[in-house]
Amino acid sequence: MDIKKAMVIGAGQMGGGIAQVLAAAGIETYMNDVKQDIVDNRIAFITKLLDKNVAKGKNTEEEKAATLANLIPSVSLEDAKDCDIVIEAIVENMDIKSNVFKQLDTICKPSCVLASNTSSLPITEIAAVTNRPDQVIGMHFMNPVPVMKLVEIIRGLQTSDETYAAVKELTLRLNKLPVEVKDVPGFVSNRVLQIMINEAIYCLYEGVASVEDIDTVMKFGMNHPMGPLKLADFIGLDTVLAIMEVMYEGYGDCKYRPCPLLRQYVKAGWLGKKVGKGFYTYDD
Ligand code: CAA
Ligand code: NAD
Repeated sequence: MDIKKAMVIGAGQMGGGIAQVLAAAGIETYMNDVKQDIVDNRIAFITKLLDKNVAKGKNTEEEKAATLANLIPSVSLEDAKDCDIVIEAIVENMDIKSNVFKQLDTICKPSCVLASNTSSLPITEIAAVTNRPDQVIGMHFMNPVPVMKLVEIIRGLQTSDETYAAVKELTLRLNKLPVEVKDVPGFVSNRVLQIMINEAIYCLYEGVASVEDIDTVMKFGMNHPMGPLKLADFIGLDTVLAIMEVMYEGYGDCKYRPCPLLRQYVKAGWLGKKVGKGFYTYDD
């Protein structure tokens, strides 16, 4: 399958990164969100990242210009009508994602592949709301997308071999490392990672150590690039909670119960780096 045109839905931290790597790989990419200013701000952020890469000598001015020329702002899902693939990266909520997939199914051409960057939700269930479940697949990028090599590829029960092959090929074209994972809540990445993050939040909740000390233990004791509480802020505490809820419900096992402190932070709107406050405070 020759992928020439794509749409990424959700101009948040993940959607922005995914759109950037698609555009850099020569794919004309619609960057879609619900409001024009969200899309504009994300394209401005990508421009800054590309400027830094040019200053560091990692990219040329020509490569930067080519990437930006491939990014097309969009606030209408109708723009997906001529796309070869759509990658959804909106809020981690089944009802909201399902609604978008239902619309895409009617808008997109029959050959178009519909992928979700969901962190934990069942691909089989998302696929079932469309009339093309064989062309629906999970393409789980890691944050920050331009830096992290891994993409978990999740096949729903109905995903065809052709769809899987096309998405694996695209992943390699983006210079990423694909790993096939079964459609279980949280896949491999979050089934392992979020338990650690949730346990770190319990340590804080129980007063075992301070935010900084919990992170120091994991950073300097286990050589993690950042501590689990900093990483939770970086992912977004709303996303961390949503993933824990999906796994708690999906496995019915109390080891996935979200820490009450995590719920409280989300209720307070302390969602992490993207809003300037989570376990840490961020100025920029
Ligand atoms: N977008 C693009 N590039 C970014 C970036 C961003 N948001 N943040 C950092 N970078 C780049 C920097 O520009 C820098 O590039 P150069 O090497 O060219 O200079 C590079 O990353 C390293 O950045 P820094 O020197 O500023 O900081 P660092 O050495 O601490 O690295 C990090 C930053 C790569 C984020 C590192 O801390 C790290 O690997 N953290 C863990 C990330 C992780 O675990 N990601 C997975 C999260 S879970 C997930 O994604 C799945 C899910 O469903 C929730
Ligand atoms: P985010 O909050 O940064 O961005 C979400 C964006 O989606 C927002 O800009 C919002 O306006 C937009 N949006 C919401 N509903 C929309 C709709 N109907 N149409 C178009 N845009 C809509 O979230 P994020 O961290 O980028 O996460 C997005 C998805 O990626 C989630 O499913 C999340 O689980 C997954 N994910 C997140 C991470 C992470 O580290 N944050 C890593 C891998 C996967």
